[in-house]
Amino acid sequence: MDKYAVVGNPIGHSLSPRIHALFAAQTAQDMRYEALLAPLDGFAATVGAFIAEGGRGLNVTVPFKEEAFRLATRLSERARAAGAVNTLGFSGAERFGDNTDGAGLVRDIAVNRQRDIAGQRLLLLGAGGAARGVILPLLAAKPASLLIANRTADKARALAAAFSGCAGGGFDDIGGRSFDIVINATSAGLAGGVLPRLTFAFAPGCLAYEMVYGKDTDFLRQARASGATTADGLGMLVEQAAEAFFVWRGVRPDTAPVLKELRPS
Ligand code: ATR
Repeated sequence: MDKYAVVGNPIGHSLSPRIHALFAAQTAQDMRYEALLAPLDGFAATVGAFIAEGGRGLNVTVPFKEEAFRLATRLSERARAAGAVNTLGFSGAERFGDNTDGAGLVRDIAVNRQRDIAGQRLLLLGAGGAARGVILPLLAAKPASLLIANRTADKARALAAAFSGCAGGGFDDIGGRSFDIVINATSAGLAGGVLPRLTFAFAPGCLAYEMVYGKDTDFLRQARASGATTADGLGMLVEQAAEAFFVWRGVRPDTAPVLKELRPS
């Protein structure tokens, strides 16, 4: 039976084993998928041992995505743009590194939520790894504009400079401007932190997308208070998993029943 896993630290609460088990059952793929805890200083050794046991692929999560990028012997274009790898595939001596996070985000917005990205004014909050991981797929969806805003303005400017077709600045630079889709890629919500007061305008019908899932974050609260439609990152999680499943198995699972099962009613 082909063996896969998600590797991270911590990993105990990962939904990935459940998601991939549902995908495998639905598509009748003969595979096993487990959660793998790697020591903080032992990622490469954990991956090496997994390959030696015949492992076929890994999903990589916090804090190892950059290390996985360095460990790959071949990279997809989207992984190279992201500077991080969340999906590894092993074949012979090759370690193929891909990044399905941005594709997952775009698919959740465009397909699950039926929101066109093309022609829309996009705002991406944050300039860390989570933000960088989604920029190329967002630009490929042809928004009217993509602005990256970060608490530390210089980081947003430097990040935007690495891509053509977007701009970067500080939270102060966006005051008074209006956006159709706002994506929170800061880590503020993870530990219950707060963002500065958001002074830009959520345009009528704006979609406010929080990459964190399962938490009512400050971003979601501020967006709701401004009348925006809100979304959390559960759909992105399931869609990035489906994209990884496709990379490994060449079969695209139907995400709708999986999302329905995972979403608390
Ligand atoms: P990740 O890999 O999750 O992106 P990261 O690379 O550490 O993590 O980046 C965290 C991002 O969240 C950064 O953009 C950070 O802003 P700074 O660059 O100014 O530090 C942002 N962030 C974290 N907590 C925040 C808060 N309370 N308010 C605003 N931005 C915050």
